[in-house]
Amino acid sequence: MGRVYYVSKNVGLGMLVLATIALATIIALSIAYDKERAKNRGKPENEATDSTSMPTPLTTPSTPKEPWDHYRLPDSLVPVSYNVTLWPRLRPNADGMYLFTGYSAVIFSCVKETDLIIIHSNKLNLTNFYGHHAKLSGLGDATAPTIQKTWLVVKTHYLVLQLRSALAVGASYVLHTEFQGELADDLEGFYRSEYTEDGVKKVVATSQMQATYARKTFPCFDEPAMKAVFTVTIIHDQGTVALSNGREIESFYPLLWTKLSHSLQIRIWARRKAIEDRQGDYALNVTGPILQFYEHYYNATYPLSKSDQIALPDFNAGAMENWGLVTYRETALLYDPIMSSTGNKERITTVIAHELAHMWFGNLVTLQWWNDLWLNEGFASYVEYLGADYAEPTWNIKDQIILYDVHKVFAVDALASSHPLSRREEEVNTPAQISEMFNTISYSKGAAVLRMLSEFLTEPVFAKGLSSYLNTFAFGNTVYTDLWDHLQQVVKNTPGMHIPHTVHNIMNRWTLQMGFPVVTIDTRTGSITQKHFLLDPDSVVDRPSQFKLPPRLVNSTTGEDWVLANTNVSGYFRVNYDLDNWDRLLSLLNTNHQALSIINRAQIIDDAFNLARAKIINTTLALRTSKYLAKERDYIPWESALRNLDYYILMFDRTEVYGALQLYLKKQIQPLFEYFKTITANWTKVPTGHTDRYNQINAIGIACSMGVDGCRELIKSWYRQWMESPHHNPIHPNLKTTVYCSAIAFGGVEEWDFAWRMFKNATLASEAVRLRSAMACTKVPWLLNRYLEYTLDPTKIRKQDATSTIQYIARNVVGMPLAWNFVRARWSYIFQHYGRGSFSFSNLVNGITKRFSTDFELQELKKFKEDNLHVGFGSATLALEQAIEKTTANIKWVTENKAHVLKWFTEEST
Ligand SMILES: *[C@@H]1O[C@H](CO)[C@@H](O)[C@H](O)[C@H]1NC(C)=O
Ligand SMILES: *[C@@H]1O[C@H](CO)[C@@H](O)[C@H](O)[C@H]1NC(C)=O
Ligand SMILES: *[C@@H]1O[C@H](CO)[C@@H](O)[C@H](O)[C@H]1NC(C)=O
Ligand SMILES: *[C@@H]1O[C@H](CO)[C@@H](O)[C@H](O)[C@H]1NC(C)=O
Ligand SMILES: *[C@@H]1O[C@H](CO)[C@@H](O)[C@H](O)[C@H]1NC(C)=O
Ligand SMILES: *[C@@H]1O[C@H](CO)[C@@H](O)[C@H](O)[C@H]1NC(C)=O
Ligand SMILES: *[C@@H]1O[C@H](CO)[C@@H](O)[C@H](O)[C@H]1NC(C)=O
Ligand SMILES: *[C@@H]1O[C@H](CO)[C@@H](O)[C@H](O)[C@H]1NC(C)=O
Ligand SMILES: [Zn+2]
Repeated sequence: MGRVYYVSKNVGLGMLVLATIALATIIALSIAYDKERAKNRGKPENEATDSTSMPTPLTTPSTPKEPWDHYRLPDSLVPVSYNVTLWPRLRPNADGMYLFTGYSAVIFSCVKETDLIIIHSNKLNLTNFYGHHAKLSGLGDATAPTIQKTWLVVKTHYLVLQLRSALAVGASYVLHTEFQGELADDLEGFYRSEYTEDGVKKVVATSQMQATYARKTFPCFDEPAMKAVFTVTIIHDQGTVALSNGREIESFYPLLWTKLSHSLQIRIWARRKAIEDRQGDYALNVTGPILQFYEHYYNATYPLSKSDQIALPDFNAGAMENWGLVTYRETALLYDPIMSSTGNKERITTVIAHELAHMWFGNLVTLQWWNDLWLNEGFASYVEYLGADYAEPTWNIKDQIILYDVHKVFAVDALASSHPLSRREEEVNTPAQISEMFNTISYSKGAAVLRMLSEFLTEPVFAKGLSSYLNTFAFGNTVYTDLWDHLQQVVKNTPGMHIPHTVHNIMNRWTLQMGFPVVTIDTRTGSITQKHFLLDPDSVVDRPSQFKLPPRLVNSTTGEDWVLANTNVSGYFRVNYDLDNWDRLLSLLNTNHQALSIINRAQIIDDAFNLARAKIINTTLALRTSKYLAKERDYIPWESALRNLDYYILMFDRTEVYGALQLYLKKQIQPLFEYFKTITANWTKVPTGHTDRYNQINAIGIACSMGVDGCRELIKSWYRQWMESPHHNPIHPNLKTTVYCSAIAFGGVEEWDFAWRMFKNATLASEAVRLRSAMACTKVPWLLNRYLEYTLDPTKIRKQDATSTIQYIARNVVGMPLAWNFVRARWSYIFQHYGRGSFSFSNLVNGITKRFSTDFELQELKKFKEDNLHVGFGSATLALEQAIEKTTANIKWVTENKAHVLKWFTEEST
């Protein structure tokens, strides 16, 4: 061929979990497991949708007959080491296909007698060796049995070798395979990502192995406990770079690097243009401090000698904690000092802190099987706040766990369809069951209960137990109870530390049962009672969960005449009081709200609104918690209130209640709007406080939609200025999402068309997302209908963005019926072209039906289901059932509450 290739060799350091690769202008090899769900941070720019779907109910599977029909590997063979060579082709072949070829030799030892070798292999074409798919040899004295036959099992992703005689227990063998696969743009296994630089198309070969895609890259024992040493060789064009988990033997051209005291090499990788624009600087700045924080917190040194982090143009999850080579979507790693918002920056910090936490917890020590995923993900989702707080101590970021994890998961875990954190190993087998484990319960409830445990045991005790666990099981695998054992041991050895039950007993209540309790405190009698909290009082659960609350957890604060429980909001439960105490708390809020901490104020609001939804307290009592907001300046309580009031807006924005609601909220938000106007010197400065910046967004967004004087004029003038000089956007990045939306909502075709031009011209992904969501805010029906048509035209809206754009339109009260008609009319086309294999397809149904609250809409929904049974609903099937259920519940709630709510808003808005 005449082209020069050079070979770089990468020795996988230590015992690595299963693994693989990336390549091109950037090429990376990555090992280990895990993907991050993108979190919604600081409101704007959330292109990634976060699924809150529930696993489907378990069915009892019939026991498969043959070993290769089981999804789990037999326990007869264990891998020791792999030599893997991969050669991705970054140019298409004559058929326009991108391919990779590879060679693998895996040494494994036999621990139980067997005449079968079963190893994972998926979508790989295996080369024939003398009529078989693989070659087998013995290691040392061992003689390999001859192969009788080999075959592939498509369903369970196996390559099977039937041997003529048995492998010897204690002996080791080498299995050789040669294979070819497609370097597809499917974001799974070894895959292709593309981008354009200076008009030239660039191709990156990269990897996503978690959870079950390593087998799509090379034949391997693709289970988390099958750890092995990897030696990886990547063949690539000169002028391209190869990266792997371990240090390269050859050295390349680091774009950025720095050294820590023990000469740890830290590098950030991305598109050349992004690095040149210094978009990697922020990530580079925070990585060192975050690693140092964890070394101290875990009392264990970083297990590798280098840390690479790479931003990829195409990436499915938020990030993936490959050991020593973490992969990210661009918005989770790249910070542009001019274009990025405060929310973008916070997301970068927390995602990095999350991934780096996994370098020890998850990679160095790995859970035995996917049923314990909640411990891995819950843990990283908790300590990410600690790591981020160390890197950015002025942000008070630890408080935000209340909004982004605790309240978020309360909403899901209060449903009858929730499930316990812990699953039995036998319940999780198929790739689909494994991917269902990556849900809000695992991440956010896991984080909430671990935070509760840490606060209960105290942080030093918790960290000491962790350190002991990590040091004991380094390079090995565990089950979740191993962590409890090590914590218990530290408790035992800590003088003066007494806990009422073992760590085991306490945690079982929260991990083995679904849901959480509402604790009721009656200050007249001093009684404390608890029961399983269910949002829908009519929902039925077989056996309501029983929780044991160690007294310290209820930890209450008392004022002269009031009691507030769950002081640090560390307990994973809601609190209800007798009416007199509620009244006293409300009066405290109205007279001296700062007597309570910020998170307690947010908690009172969230508890009250949810207790009212569950009919435990009166709706008007919940609404009364929002009265003091006229004096509130902090973000977390405001955000908590606005999230709860959002339900009222959705239920009533097409009814006469809305006029009164608008007057009330206008009155409440006005002082906040004025406050920000003052502290920003008439909107010329950025607030200094981190969360003040978020609350400024709330102030402007709500003030404009509620009609506060001066708000609309302000945003219109900003947008006008931008339209007049498109190269000088005067709108601060923090405010863009809100300002674009309001300006388009109150503008016409001119404003819309300008946004469209800017959208088509945008070079920063997050800027394009802001504009795409803002264009859905227009109130002009024909513009909305035209935009709906655009969503199904891939030359206008990228295919991956179609359904989320329709959801943005449905979020708009004028757009909702148009989007519903559009989706009904085109269901079969949408389903066929956008529904198959899509993770977030169910969000389309959720999004469109959010406002449904009339009998008529319920009938329409049922008819839609009937009319399209022959087409099907794919991954939106469950969402459709839930939509019918939720609409039914909404109808009931509106019927019961509408008159009271109208009366209350009317009285309170004058
Ligand atoms: C793997 O590679 C190493 C060094 O490159 C070599 O010593 C070893 O024999 C190889 N193992 C197998 C099973 O091919
Ligand atoms: C694998 O083999 C099948 C059947 O020959 C062929 O259609 C397919 O294109 C091959 N795939 C790759 C990636 O080589
Ligand atoms: C990174 O740190 C340097 C040195 O402290 C600082 O000058 C620079 O502004 C930081 N960059 C970013 C994007 O935070
Ligand atoms: C940290 O680890 C060292 C050695 O592993 C041990 O001696 C020391 O006690 C540990 N410190 C804490 C606070 O656990
Ligand atoms: C409540 O929490 C505070 C702060 O953590 C602690 O100082 C206090 O001792 C706790 N009170 C009880 C009764 O546990
Ligand atoms: C809620 O309280 C108000 C006023 O105290 C009362 O008029 C109303 O009937 C109560 N509503 C419910 C549902 O109990
Ligand atoms: C803000 O504007 C008002 C009136 O337009 C003016 O009186 C005031 O001085 C301005 N404040 C600042 C800090 O510029
Ligand atoms: C549109 O993008 C091109 C290329 O990036 C740039 O030269 C041009 O200035 C942009 N136009 C506007 C109005 O931003
Ligand atoms: Zn994670």
